[in-house]
Amino acid sequence: MAIRLGDTAPDFTAPTTQGEINFHEWLGDGWGVLFSHPKDFTPVCTTELGYVAKIKPEFEKRNVKVIGLSVDPVDSHEQWEGDIEETQGTAVNFPMIGDPDRTVSDLYDMIHPNADDTLTVRSVFVIGPDKKVKLTLTYPASTGRNFDEILRVIDSLQLTAYKKVATPANWRDGDDVIIVPALSDEEAKELFPDGWDEQKPYLRVTKQPS
Ligand code: BEZ
Repeated sequence: MAIRLGDTAPDFTAPTTQGEINFHEWLGDGWGVLFSHPKDFTPVCTTELGYVAKIKPEFEKRNVKVIGLSVDPVDSHEQWEGDIEETQGTAVNFPMIGDPDRTVSDLYDMIHPNADDTLTVRSVFVIGPDKKVKLTLTYPASTGRNFDEILRVIDSLQLTAYKKVATPANWRDGDDVIIVPALSDEEAKELFPDGWDEQKPYLRVTKQPS
């Protein structure tokens, strides 16, 4: 069954390029991004993995671990990593799961047989410290993902988790934010002593908390 927002991210133990990993243990009490790519030694995937390696410090700053997956085995990932470093200029610095028997792919519904019955689609799962799924995203094989957008969503998710604000359309870090509707005005006064712009009772705009 498809994994939905708020579900507990299924746990698994799998071989990776950094040794066997138990997913929940590996996540610890931080955030995580699990993402699949269709196949090793393919062009779009090569650019994606190189880019994720390049911006790994941005994930780390946010207390987020990243892990990749495809249905290729670990030794194939390891051979391909040389090409990624050579062409993208950054060595892959995060684990990649080898899933030839599709255990994890099936657990996370990453194979969409009407698109392709042998390859994983480009799935992304953002998982919170409570192990709940906070974001799911599915792209086709031909479209490389925008990993800066994934960082943007993580910033928004963390603002909601820690500061009780939501983010409006096209929000960028530093823009004004919205006080979550679940917070009463009385509660909001304590958290936002500088106040807010009440455009409607349900639309309370305030400066982004630091
Ligand atoms: C790619 O990464 O370029 C790719 C992978 C599988 C199918 C099509 C494209």
